[in-house]
Amino acid sequence: MNITFIGYGNVGAPLADHLQRLGHSVTLAARDVNSEAVRMAQARNPALKAVPLEQAVREAEVVFLATPFMANAQVVPPLAEALAGKVLIDCTNPVGPGLTHGLNNVQSGSQALQALVPQARVVKAFTIYGFENFENNAYPGYGVKPAMFFCGNDAAAKATAAGLIGQLGWEPLDVGGLEQALHLEHMTLLWVRMVRVKGHSPHLVWAALTR
Ligand SMILES: NC(=O)c1ccc[n+]([C@@H]2O[C@H](COP(=O)([O-])OP(=O)(O)OC[C@H]3O[C@@H](n4cnc5c(N)ncnc54)[C@H](OP(=O)(O)O)[C@@H]3O)[C@@H](O)[C@H]2O)c1
Repeated sequence: MNITFIGYGNVGAPLADHLQRLGHSVTLAARDVNSEAVRMAQARNPALKAVPLEQAVREAEVVFLATPFMANAQVVPPLAEALAGKVLIDCTNPVGPGLTHGLNNVQSGSQALQALVPQARVVKAFTIYGFENFENNAYPGYGVKPAMFFCGNDAAAKATAAGLIGQLGWEPLDVGGLEQALHLEHMTLLWVRMVRVKGHSPHLVWAALTR
């Protein structure tokens, strides 16, 4: 699958690396193909190709957005046409002062993103844990995979996202439409406060048990 990353820092770089090693054609959408971020991602995996931003998006089937949330309003609208019809995996989280919800708990960041690109098929995923778990999500000995909660309005886009989530070693858990993104963003804040403030392990993840 042709996959493009917009943003390849703490979150994007390990996911891009793993997906390329799983056999996907993975591209770094670059404002500057010689940037420090590109160099660092390629030092991790030289098979990651840097391609100018809009071209990279046009050539992709799936686009991961892993930028600071505040950058989305600047980054995304110029790419709206190129993103039309694409699966857009939103890894971003709106975080406000004091680890509060950045959009005042009213609208999710993913719904705000969807409004910027109405023709893209937004799926929120890879947001509820810290990047440590995107680097390495092996939890040996439990007999159960860590859960990756995701949501979106387009069933086919969610099926594509679920496939990638599963290939990356997570148990995909579809939690519903994009209106559920607000609650995933609160899960993120819960995790961040537990781990970054209260001292829980950064390798803490959730598992979904049903019977
Ligand atoms: N850190 C975590 O543990 C974690 C976990 C889950 C979700 N998230 C969310 O994931 C997103 C990324 O977090 P991160 O920690 O990976 O951030 P990061 O390490 O700072 O990386 C951000 C990436 O976005 C790029 N970027 C910034 N502004 C841009 C713009 N205007 N146009 C295009 N690219 C731009 C940066 O490129 P340059 O370096 O070239 O500026 C960099 O590649 C955030 O929304 C965050 O809330 C973070």
